[in-house]
Amino acid sequence: MADPTELTRPTRIAVTGAAPYDVVVGHGLLDQLPEVLGDRVERVALIFDSSLAERAQEALRVLNPHYGVLVLGVPKGEAAKTSAVADQCWEALGDEGFTRSDAVVTFGGGATTDLGGFVAATWLRGVRVVHVPTSVLAMVDAAVGGKTGIDTGAGKNLVGAFHEPAGVLCDLDLLDGLPAEELASGLGEVVKCGFIADPEILRLVEDASGDDLRPGARVLRELVERAVRVKVDVVVDDLKEVRGTTGAGHPGREALNYGHTLAHALERLTGYRVRHGEAVAVGAVFVAELARGEGLLGEDVVRRHRAAFARAGLPTSVPELAGADDVDLGFETVRSAMAVDKKARGSQLRFVVLDGLGSPRILAGPDDTALQAAYAAIGGSW
Ligand code: GLY
Repeated sequence: MADPTELTRPTRIAVTGAAPYDVVVGHGLLDQLPEVLGDRVERVALIFDSSLAERAQEALRVLNPHYGVLVLGVPKGEAAKTSAVADQCWEALGDEGFTRSDAVVTFGGGATTDLGGFVAATWLRGVRVVHVPTSVLAMVDAAVGGKTGIDTGAGKNLVGAFHEPAGVLCDLDLLDGLPAEELASGLGEVVKCGFIADPEILRLVEDASGDDLRPGARVLRELVERAVRVKVDVVVDDLKEVRGTTGAGHPGREALNYGHTLAHALERLTGYRVRHGEAVAVGAVFVAELARGEGLLGEDVVRRHRAAFARAGLPTSVPELAGADDVDLGFETVRSAMAVDKKARGSQLRFVVLDGLGSPRILAGPDDTALQAAYAAIGGSW
């Protein structure tokens, strides 16, 4: 029988490098905030998703005895990632005279950690930040690895900075009450990690019962830990995504963008009504079809994409995307939107594809016939 302390003991995943930090996964972790912030910090700006105000009180309760706390609620979701919201945060830090010995704590999903991380990266050219992600998506992706940013009218994450956190506390208790669709969206990034690096993730998802994928479940915790490890391994190796390999060979951090070129286009075209993980699921099936068409990937692995994402409760085709009914998602529109993505180089589209399970590589400049065929295979229209 499993030792119950095994389940309650936090798991520390070390991110090595010039500014090392730990990603801690476990239960009841908020009390560790002062330890992670360190004893030189005097004031803390708690940047939190306003829809989680009640939950954020728990972080406030821990911070208040130790620091002067500036409480900054920001809009829920992608609406937080605008220059206007960043500006409001900068003005508030300015009004309070925040200095280099002060710090930011983010509390929310991926959009909150992206925005809050960006504010921390830019205030006085960088102050300490600790992320407390409250969604699976933020735990396994947004909060880890130091990418921060906001959106512009032209696309997602087009303005940003690399700014590594001083620590990440993935408190699984914060997932209680997370809507099922949000949890599934986070699993989109988890399953992606299964395809690019850790097939054991796929086995766990494929064998999971409904209860295994709920907050509090041991399997969900293992999935979060495995996906964090995949991300940490990649960012330790290529923090600033500079490897830039084209063709065969591991593409470094760019591998994490598996499925994201189409996903970002779908998110932007639908005004972010499509959730990130849903778009990633459809985007990953698209690149699997693209790789199959190019003779890189077998039909069995393409089928496994559809099965694993569907098992996680995610769409695997364009028509299944909720919130996209009234939007033009014809091939030409989608192709133009993909060309704006920052993963394009010059006029050439670049895709992370697989040439086997756990073996990502770059496919640069596939022709439009191949793209159209892959788009048709995921139910896309002309
Ligand atoms: N979300 C992709 C990355 O952190 O590189």
